[in-house]
Amino acid sequence: MSRARIGPRGALCGEARVPGDKSITQRAILLAALASGTTRIRGANPGLDTRAALGIVRQLGARVSATVREGILVRGGTLQESDRVLDARNSGTALRLATGLLAAQPFLSVLTGDASLRRRPVARVIEPLRVLGADLTARQGDRLPPIVVRGRPLQGAAVITAVPSAQVKSAVLLAGIQAQGITSVREPAFTRDHTERMLPHFGVPVEREGMAVRVRGPATLQPADLEVPGDFSAASFLLAAASIVRGSDITLKGVGVNPTRTAFLDHLERVGSGLMRGNERVTTGEPVADLRVRAGKIRGTRVAPEAVPRLIDELPLVAVLAAFADGKTVVRGADELRVKESDRVATVAAGLRAIGVEVEEHPDGWTIHGKGGRIRGGTVDAAGDHRIAMAFMVAGLAAREGITVLGAESARVSDPGFLNRLRGLLR
Ligand code: S3P
Repeated sequence: MSRARIGPRGALCGEARVPGDKSITQRAILLAALASGTTRIRGANPGLDTRAALGIVRQLGARVSATVREGILVRGGTLQESDRVLDARNSGTALRLATGLLAAQPFLSVLTGDASLRRRPVARVIEPLRVLGADLTARQGDRLPPIVVRGRPLQGAAVITAVPSAQVKSAVLLAGIQAQGITSVREPAFTRDHTERMLPHFGVPVEREGMAVRVRGPATLQPADLEVPGDFSAASFLLAAASIVRGSDITLKGVGVNPTRTAFLDHLERVGSGLMRGNERVTTGEPVADLRVRAGKIRGTRVAPEAVPRLIDELPLVAVLAAFADGKTVVRGADELRVKESDRVATVAAGLRAIGVEVEEHPDGWTIHGKGGRIRGGTVDAAGDHRIAMAFMVAGLAAREGITVLGAESARVSDPGFLNRLRGLLR
């Protein structure tokens, strides 16, 4: 396990780019596998989750290549049964979306992942996919991976999901475009809509009506030419860092600002960080902007439970900001954090305590007692979770004695260049 020690090194200044969006990249790879012909994916996320998704489609017979100029090329079409178990490694998105994709393919597939992923729930995808007629089985009464998928013809259906989850919605849409007739998915709250925005680029129309999305199958996918925007969640680590390190002023170029993802920007403004967005444009159906942030005096706040699905991956950073805030921050309604790459309610609480912050852990969030700028520092175990590792590296930049992060290498899951990018902004 690698460790990284990050201490105060002065302000962050200048411009940077962040890696391509991980959610969008994974969708592009899986949809490309269904399209007859070559899909080009420029600006793909370079992390291990992307490699896991590429490994899966390759095993199913898609041809994958990559060049610096062209990006990732995926030649899809007719998929074949794999003679091996498909390994999504640490990627919940790859596992759950591939389950939807494979449910309609006429062969048997077994999907699994690393020790962390094998503890994460899959009933949430199995149950809605069964409404379309999918034949799926999983360990411990269909609760945990591995998942056995006996692919078969599916029938379009109206699905209402119980958990607000873009992974579940996307799994149903991936099955729905291969099913006979109309499939609709209605969610209890809006979640990221990258799949809906991407399908038309593969020639598949998508209709939206209130909280529901509808597709008609079986659809013929055309290969697409896609440009992936910068990953908003990767950008958020740098935005948080610049917010808490005195004197900082950074600009991040070409960041995806899909409104289903950006509640963290509203949060930054509310707690007193100086934020500006400019150069707004649209890339492959996704809104993109340059984001400038300057350090501010951070205040405590209450995060509205309704905002949680739109800032789910940024909640570890909300907690870090809360630690550096004046006053108390309350986060509730975030029980989904318990089933991410780690139990993030617990790993964040343990991390904050380890660096000298008072925190009450609730079943669905925290109450964090901010210490203004006066954080001691210490040693934090990232529990193999990339977002926990990066969140505490950020905190280290403003903690008096610095922070040692155990398991720092997990950052490679979503952002292998994280530490270098951070160093490049330190003047
Ligand atoms: C993702 C959706 C979210 C998010 C995850 C990526 C996606 O998970 O936490 O990092 O790509 O669809 P849920 O949909 O399970 O909330």
